[in-house]
Amino acid sequence: MIGGSQAPSPQTYARGLEGLITGDTRISDIDGLTGRLTYRGYSIADLEANSSFEAVSYLILQGEVPTAAQLEDWQSELRRWRRPPRAAFDSLARVPRRAHPLAQYRTMLTVAACHTPEPENTTLDAQWRRPARILSWTSALAAAAIRHLDGLDAVEPNDELGFAANFLYQTLGVIPPDDEIRAFEASLIVQAEHGLHAAAFAALVVISTGADLGSAVLAGMGALSGARHGGANQLAFEMMAGFENADQARTWTRAALGRGHRFPGFGHRVYKCPDPRVRALEPHAERILRSHGLEHRWEIYTALRDEIESALGPKGIYANVDSITGLLYHPMGLPVSAFPIPFCLAIQTGWMAHCLEYLPDGPMIEPGAVYVGSADSS
Ligand code: COA
Repeated sequence: MIGGSQAPSPQTYARGLEGLITGDTRISDIDGLTGRLTYRGYSIADLEANSSFEAVSYLILQGEVPTAAQLEDWQSELRRWRRPPRAAFDSLARVPRRAHPLAQYRTMLTVAACHTPEPENTTLDAQWRRPARILSWTSALAAAAIRHLDGLDAVEPNDELGFAANFLYQTLGVIPPDDEIRAFEASLIVQAEHGLHAAAFAALVVISTGADLGSAVLAGMGALSGARHGGANQLAFEMMAGFENADQARTWTRAALGRGHRFPGFGHRVYKCPDPRVRALEPHAERILRSHGLEHRWEIYTALRDEIESALGPKGIYANVDSITGLLYHPMGLPVSAFPIPFCLAIQTGWMAHCLEYLPDGPMIEPGAVYVGSADSS
């Protein structure tokens, strides 16, 4: 840690804060050169294969694998908050249906936040009471926002279902087949935490001011919506959906590479090697696409991925998680503009964990800027 007289010169900075370390964390470790991502010491490949989203969210937030009793308590706490205040749903009536579902969802959460039992209580205990409520409320609100795109009413939760299955049920109005629930849950698990990326940092800045956890999550959502961040999965899918077959995708990609095109769903600030989240989700995507008779979409994806990686791999550009999630979500019936929502739903777990880890003694985050404008002319 640097402090006092060892503080760095204010003239030394990197645009985009690249390479800047803001503190220690015990939540996750990302090795961008070997492609390894661990939550609290457990690899995402193991967690995705062997755990539920509920168990992984507990691990990320609490720092340890839950015992059976702890998991049961956490699951029942999550179920307890599955019914957000009516006012949040009513607010949808005033939001144009054409508005992006992330914006609709954010609006509903803002209204819901005004109805929380203890909105102004920002003691550490009160902040720790919020994650279950935020996870479950946002799941119900996100499902309602997605249905609103088609003018459909919200669906009551089904308390027999786990977190992932219930979100799909409240979104689609039917319980999907088990393999689709499992694939969706895998996508939530591998996207549940990713260090201090831009959205997590936005949340951290807000919590550092003494604000409540809900406000921090709303800040994260705003940051995540950008095309360079969580909005990229929608753009990546739209790019792939524009091709009829793998040959067409290959021809277009070669020409686009020649023009220096920036491909959504490729490249990453941290990973300069294959993204472990992609490796975990590819088998699910291939299976789901084939089971829906959409193998051409799998072939288009692999053609595009192979062309881009063989040309740009030496520069550290590989498919990132946003290249693959849309391929999973589309056959399940999620509308394309809604693809960033499951990412948001999952990764807010990590934002909350970072906020709660920072809270006990973290100072307010307030960097400076080097003034390069006109000299004082008074
Ligand atoms: N397609 C083609 N080239 C890419 C690229 C992409 N998706 N991403 C980066 N590059 C190239 C840049 O053109 C640049 O090349 P140059 O050095 O010859 O000028 C080089 O890689 C570095 O790009 P830069 O934007 O500085 O890298 P970054 O680490 O700041 O960028 C992203 C990270 C994520 C913003 C960037 O990879 C991107 O825009 N990807 C597409 C959006 C996306 O998928 N975002 C989701 C991330 S999970």
